[in-house]
Amino acid sequence: MNNNHSIDINRLNAFAEKMVHEKKTAVGFPCNQNIKLADFYHWYAVSGLADVAMNNVGDPRKPSLFALNTHEFENEVIDFFSPLYGFAPDEAWGIVTNGGTDGNNHGIYFGVHVLSARSKLKPILYVSEEAHYSIMRLCDLQGLEMRQIPANIRGEMEVQAFEQALDPGRPALIVIAVGTTFKGGIDNQDAIEEVLARKRPVAVYRHVDAALFGGYLPFTEHADLVSHCERHFDSIAVSGHKFFGFDEPLGLFLTTNEVIATQNPFRVSYLNASVPTITCSRSALAPLKFWWQIHKTGVEGYRRQAELILKNALYLKERLDEIAYPAWKNEFSNTVYFQRPGDWVMKKWSLAPYEDERLGGMLAHDIVMRHEGMHLIDHFIDDLLLDRRGVDA
Ligand SMILES: Cc1ncc(COP(=O)(O)O)c(C=O)c1O
Repeated sequence: MNNNHSIDINRLNAFAEKMVHEKKTAVGFPCNQNIKLADFYHWYAVSGLADVAMNNVGDPRKPSLFALNTHEFENEVIDFFSPLYGFAPDEAWGIVTNGGTDGNNHGIYFGVHVLSARSKLKPILYVSEEAHYSIMRLCDLQGLEMRQIPANIRGEMEVQAFEQALDPGRPALIVIAVGTTFKGGIDNQDAIEEVLARKRPVAVYRHVDAALFGGYLPFTEHADLVSHCERHFDSIAVSGHKFFGFDEPLGLFLTTNEVIATQNPFRVSYLNASVPTITCSRSALAPLKFWWQIHKTGVEGYRRQAELILKNALYLKERLDEIAYPAWKNEFSNTVYFQRPGDWVMKKWSLAPYEDERLGGMLAHDIVMRHEGMHLIDHFIDDLLLDRRGVDA
């Protein structure tokens, strides 16, 4: 450690160089590395804001006593996304979160309060076994009873098993996965609704975890899968650093004013408001970055990006088929999962491992984000071919 208070710029530069190099072949995790924020950071520094401690504490929809916030930009981000997720402008409430898990935490927490306003009985949370582990973590954190429902071979909740597990005598908090982490499975919301209509639990709250797919689906012809008015879910969480592409974790959480109205008000006098958010301090920078990106990209830009990743995911699947490499891709998905290659390929391409005996055991996946074009995919296929020939590159 250097004690003379100087910055070891050589060390930092070497680190930055390594990160910039590594990002090019990082295809196993759902982070869009095609980030364009250099101009934002330049403006941020020269504007003087880099030396201001801003904080989005409080309810962005209410006037705040702490003036150093970006609530006006946060609200505009939420107003931009509300109709895209099927919320009417006057019914929507939302925040820019610090990621998908934060959004899920709010969805589950708000859900419990909505259900407890309708029934004195303790709720049961239902979620598919292939849902993201954050749901299990949050159930543990919030002391909730959870029933994990088996998933089919594509990673979608087995609806028959859900029907068997459902206890209609207790309130049901259902976490619906729109794009599971490994296989990109989308739970069948119509079939889940049919079960609910048949078994009629005492109260129901539906939270959608659409961490990755929720980013691009609104810009495709399958937008209905993440539409509140068409699918009748109560809240939705989306990660910002996945499809949209940001340099650090952030996300979106949307719900209705009706849901907010049932929450524990916790009046906080020094904030002049009741504060529905779980965390007190929240990033003021994240909404500003999101606002910047929305204005630079626009709906048309996001539409083109969505089209591109889905087209390239299809190209990857076709190339794998061409070389007869066991691989699968679900509908509407940018995630291709396949037989796990050798360790050097796993490491070089930052691939994530998984196991499913139904598909032959050891698997890995490639999540096609914007930085993975056809050229890179061809390189990846070349490496799989080398690996198959036993060459350790
Ligand atoms: C389906 C799903 N939900 C939630 C999360 C957690 O999101 P975050 O990392 O933004 O907290 C992930 C992360 O990969 C995910 O794949």
